[in-house]
Amino acid sequence: MSFKNGEGLHLVMTGAPGTGKGTQASVLKRRYGICHLSTGEMLREEVKKGTEIGNQLKDHLAAGGFAPDELMIKMVSNRIEEPDCKKGFILDGFPRTLKQAEVLENMLNEKGITLNAVIEIQVPDHIIVDRILGRYTCMTCGESYSDKYHKPKVPGVCDICGGTKFSRRLYDTKETIERRLEKYRNFTYPTIAYYKENGLLRSIDGNGTVEVVAERIDEALKNK
Ligand code: AP5
Ligand code: MG
Repeated sequence: MSFKNGEGLHLVMTGAPGTGKGTQASVLKRRYGICHLSTGEMLREEVKKGTEIGNQLKDHLAAGGFAPDELMIKMVSNRIEEPDCKKGFILDGFPRTLKQAEVLENMLNEKGITLNAVIEIQVPDHIIVDRILGRYTCMTCGESYSDKYHKPKVPGVCDICGGTKFSRRLYDTKETIERRLEKYRNFTYPTIAYYKENGLLRSIDGNGTVEVVAERIDEALKNK
């Protein structure tokens, strides 16, 4: 691959909730030193900080709904201008609608940035539900773990930063997951066809260990 040090690497990470987008984006961030931009994480920060946006959206997000396109587009457009994104970035969870995909294409064209690939991670629904219900996150660095499938090597200690405090997401309930899967099928799935058509799509089997899935992504990027 021609992006040995991540310079100029611009990726979209897509797939249903719980397929491992955040986990794999974190692997790529460490490997290539590029910025990991999760729109879900940005929204959770707004809710945590109790900002006007966060207060307006929290019940809607808790019910598995999407944030408005205009808001997300503005957030992403501002964020990719920041210095840590200059070398390259991974957009995790954006675009999530066809409108977002179309606006992103124009936005990147205007900024003179070329999208290199769209990585779609595929995992069967029953595994997704299991993964999300078991998810917990390092409160220091945000790394995700799972009760059953992806545990830290040393119990209670984050593999990445050594942190020992973990939390669970408020919205990781069975009802919310089902609603989020439905939203994914109805609104995000059409973006997959869009990226297939323009040749950027790389579909990856996300069933396997984090390391095995990371190798598959690496392979897909090599064959670009
Ligand atoms: P967001 O935070 O993006 O949530 P999501 O897409 O639903 O995805 P998740 O973060 O739940 O899962 P993931 O694919 O990142 O998987 P993870 O790595 O954690 O968005 C949240 C909400 O914000 C949305 O529902 C929406 O309302 C709103 N929003 C966000 N972006 C928006 C946008 N652009 N427009 C409008 N609204 C927007 O892994 C899951 C679990 O599995 C973890 O426990 C992990 O440890 C484990 N795991 C990962 N990989 C493996 C593996 N290979 N084997 C075993 N376990 C694994
Ligand atoms: Mg995520």
